[in-house]
Amino acid sequence: MPIYHHLGNLPRKRHQVLVRPDGGMYFEELMGNKGFVGPSTLMYHMRYPTEVRDQRSAGICSLEEATRDDLRHCHFRTASLDCGPSVVRDRVGLLFNDDVALFVARPDASEEPLFRDGGSDELIFVAKGEGTLHSMLGDLPFRSGDYIVIPRGIVHQWEFANNDNHLLILESRGAVRTPKHYRNEFGQLLEGAPFNERDVRPPSNLVTHDDEGDFAVLTKHGQRYTEQVLSHHPFDVVGWDGFYYPWALNIEDFEPKVAAYHLPPPVHQTFESEGFVICSFCPRPFDYGEGAVPAPYFHSNVWTDEVIFYACEEFMSRKGIGFASITLHPDGLPHGPQPGRMEDSIGVKWTDELAVMLDTFAPLKIAKSALSIEDEAYYRSWLG
Ligand SMILES: [Fe+2]
Repeated sequence: MPIYHHLGNLPRKRHQVLVRPDGGMYFEELMGNKGFVGPSTLMYHMRYPTEVRDQRSAGICSLEEATRDDLRHCHFRTASLDCGPSVVRDRVGLLFNDDVALFVARPDASEEPLFRDGGSDELIFVAKGEGTLHSMLGDLPFRSGDYIVIPRGIVHQWEFANNDNHLLILESRGAVRTPKHYRNEFGQLLEGAPFNERDVRPPSNLVTHDDEGDFAVLTKHGQRYTEQVLSHHPFDVVGWDGFYYPWALNIEDFEPKVAAYHLPPPVHQTFESEGFVICSFCPRPFDYGEGAVPAPYFHSNVWTDEVIFYACEEFMSRKGIGFASITLHPDGLPHGPQPGRMEDSIGVKWTDELAVMLDTFAPLKIAKSALSIEDEAYYRSWLG
C-alpha cells in the first residue's frame, strides 16, 4: 500500500481493452478499500474472477472469551502453544476486541490452502520462519523478522521452507498503514522517519496460472470460513498496478531513535490502524546521558492495553520471559520494570532486545485458548 507499484502487462489507459494473444480480452477488476476512494489496484484476469462452481460453509475460527472476574497483568508462553500445521486454518486466537484480534500460528511446511481474509487486513510478524507468500499479485519472499501486511480480499497462499515457523498474526478492522506523522503532505515517508520506501518490499515476481479445473479458495470473514470452488486458478492475473498489494518490512530495517534520556514508546511506532498501533523494539545503543536510566519508568498508560510479543530471550525491563512470550498489561493498572531491571540498566551501553508491541485503545478480551499457556504467577513478579 505505501507506494505505487506495477507488474506484468497493462493497457495504456485504465478501463481500456487489453487484448489477449488469441484476440480475446482480459478482464479488469478493481480491488481497494473504502469503496472507490481508498487505496486500490487494477488487475487484469484471464477469466472472470466471479466464476464460482460451488460453495459451502467451512467452519468457524472461534474466539471465545475466557471467564475471569479480576483484572491482572498476564504472561502467555506461546512457545509451548499447541497449534495445527496450517497458518490459515490453525491460528490460535489469544486476545481480541472489536478493532483487532491477535493469533499465533506455528505452521509446518505442508501445503497451505488458497486463502483470502475477506473481513480484515492481516499484519503478520514472522518471529521465526522463511518461505514465499504467493498471491494473485505476485510472489513475496519472506524471512524471520518480517512484518507482512496483507490487505483484505487478496487471494494468497503461504509456502514455508521448513517446519520450524512461529508467527504472530493480527486481524485488523481498519487498514494497516504507516503512521501518518511519518509522511509528508504528498504521502512520502519523511527524512526523519525510522524507515523508508526503500525498505518496503512489494511482490517481485508475477506468476500467472492459466489453469482450468476445480480450485478451492478459503475465505475468512470475521469468525466464519467459506470455501468457494472456482472454475480456474485464482492467480490468473497477467498485470496490475496501484497501491493495494501485500508488502513486507523487516524489523531489522527499522532505525530506532536513541536520546540522552529515555524516549517513550511512540518513537518506536511502526504501523497504525483503527483502534491500535504497533511499535518495534530493536537492538540499539542505550540512553547515554549522565546518570541516564535506560529502563522505562513505571507507567499507568490508562486508556491503553499494552501487549508485547518478545522475539528474543532477553528484554531490558522484563524478567522471566522467553522467546515468543506475550505479556498483557491492561488499562487501569501500573506496570514497569521487574525488580533489579531498572538498577541493572544504568551504565549499560547496548541492548539486543527484539519485540513487537501492540497498544490498543479499547480493552482486550482474553480468549479461552490463552489460559492453557498462561504463567499464572506473572502478576506477582514485581515482588522483590
Ligand atoms: Fe509499558
